[in-house]
Amino acid sequence: MLFLALETSCDETSAAVFTDEPRVLSNIVASQTERHLPFGGVVPEIAARAHLQNILPVVEQALAQANITLAEIDCVVVHNTPGLVGALLIGVSTAKMLSLALDVPLIAVNHIASHIYACRLAAGRDIFPCVGMVVSGGHTALFHCPEPLKMELLGGTRDDAAGEAFDKVAAILGLGFPGGPALEREAASGSANVYPLPRSFIHESRIEFSFSGLKTAVLYTVHGQGVSKGPTPPPGPFRSDVAASFQQAVVDVLVSKSRQALRQTGLNRLAVGGGVTANRTLRAGLEAMAAKEGVELFIPPMNLCTDNAAMAALAIEKWKRGEFAPLDLDAEPNWM
Ligand code: KG4
Ligand code: ZN
Repeated sequence: MLFLALETSCDETSAAVFTDEPRVLSNIVASQTERHLPFGGVVPEIAARAHLQNILPVVEQALAQANITLAEIDCVVVHNTPGLVGALLIGVSTAKMLSLALDVPLIAVNHIASHIYACRLAAGRDIFPCVGMVVSGGHTALFHCPEPLKMELLGGTRDDAAGEAFDKVAAILGLGFPGGPALEREAASGSANVYPLPRSFIHESRIEFSFSGLKTAVLYTVHGQGVSKGPTPPPGPFRSDVAASFQQAVVDVLVSKSRQALRQTGLNRLAVGGGVTANRTLRAGLEAMAAKEGVELFIPPMNLCTDNAAMAALAIEKWKRGEFAPLDLDAEPNWM
């Protein structure tokens, strides 16, 4: 049984081939970072146009690397929600075209559920039931996941996503785009205890995130209280200490809220996904918390943390249930 999956929800064009074991035979990702670089963030129109250029070459590469032909594909899979609508539409249209042309079923999966399923894929064994946490550029949320296709939202962010905060703070510090990795590098030479930055809701029992106050606090730390514009700080201890203090504030909140979700649900497995999971301080914080709580932690390797099509292997669960998508499948930009 061979699946071909497509991912185009944001700024990575990806195609993957996997079997129903699941075993990943190829997972090709074409990044568009270069094209968005001059704008300091993802430009939806540019993303959609780039997906259009990249999608068929990426599919060809995925087939070639898996050493199969298009005719051998048994099912086409696509992430149709959530994401940038113009970007999603390229994946959805291509998947529908392939499904029709090959006369094979089409399956639509949720990108966020796939981020958690990436942990199952990497672990090579069942991880459910678990608490799932997705921390990316577009989402920060905790879920109760009794099984692969069931996710109950425990709490999300009321404003910025954690990755978005990394990107915005990196811009404030003049560290460029994409901000997450640049900020992590800058923080490595700084001290996290220098600036006491806010950790929203950390002492409250409800599971909710907010990172916009933290971003503003960084802005005022850099330019002065109430001042939102000014020159970016030069390289040096000030810049790296602010970066480290910010990073620690985000990590403290994510670790604390995931601990709360584990205690609240009584579950002893935590599955984490999304681009921010690449952050080493976050990984270390989650590892320490999981060890202390006696919880099993699942974090996929980098290539399965950031956006990719292989994580859409979640579709295997839908295949087993016969949950196929119609050919009038639409792209749904909004959450779930
Ligand atoms: O999941 P992802 O690849 O795309 C979506 O947003 O769906 O996540 C991208 C986000 C960006 O905001 C990026 O800055 C952040 O993940 N990120 C990081 C790191 N690497 C990527 N944030 C913190 N530390 C990192 N090392
Ligand atoms: Zn994502």
